[in-house]
Amino acid sequence: MAQSRLTAMRDARTDSAAFRAALHELTTMLVYEAARTLAVEHYPIQTPVAPTQGTRLANPPLLVPVLRAGLGMADAALALLPESSMGFVGLARDEHTFEPRAYMESLPVDLAGLPVFVLDPMLATGGSLEHCCRLLADRGCTDIIVLCVLAAPAGIERLERSGLPLRLVTASIDEGLNDKAFIVPGLGDAGDRQFGGM
Ligand code: PRP
Repeated sequence: MAQSRLTAMRDARTDSAAFRAALHELTTMLVYEAARTLAVEHYPIQTPVAPTQGTRLANPPLLVPVLRAGLGMADAALALLPESSMGFVGLARDEHTFEPRAYMESLPVDLAGLPVFVLDPMLATGGSLEHCCRLLADRGCTDIIVLCVLAAPAGIERLERSGLPLRLVTASIDEGLNDKAFIVPGLGDAGDRQFGGM
């Protein structure tokens, strides 16, 4: 199922509305996968028949979509994790250096003890996600799960080298990057494909 949504996103003929729908559905699957490791707690409830133990998340994660492209993952993640709060980071990659430029940051001051799900469809060179995860670690976060649709080997290596306390959940590891640091075969620019070119 995840691979069929990913195929729709890769196909250049897919229009923006269908691309957003496929990203929404795929994000539900990624969040479901990532949420397996979240701690739960039990508490007493009463069914119509008998008392029993209920289960809930002990510590719902903070959701952090990376603008713009990560915005398309925010609704699906919040639908599955309605108790979660949301923070935002805005990053744009420089066309020439491929390094991220931060233009927005709205995060809780103290993230100690709170798991964080970072939402960004693309891990290319890894510069953007390394920057974002460093912001989170600087606020005391020690439990970061990055949710990506696509990852390039170079980006994975960069995150590994960073030493940051993170894990990655992705639907695909693609072949590599082209000379514009786009993922190959990839799906193009996830921000443009959802929201149009700037
Ligand atoms: C894309 C993508 C990632 C980043 C990946 O965003 O959504 O954030 O590039 O590249 P990297 O791993 O090489 O850093 P972009 O900068 O195009 O901004 P947008 O989401 O506003 O389109």
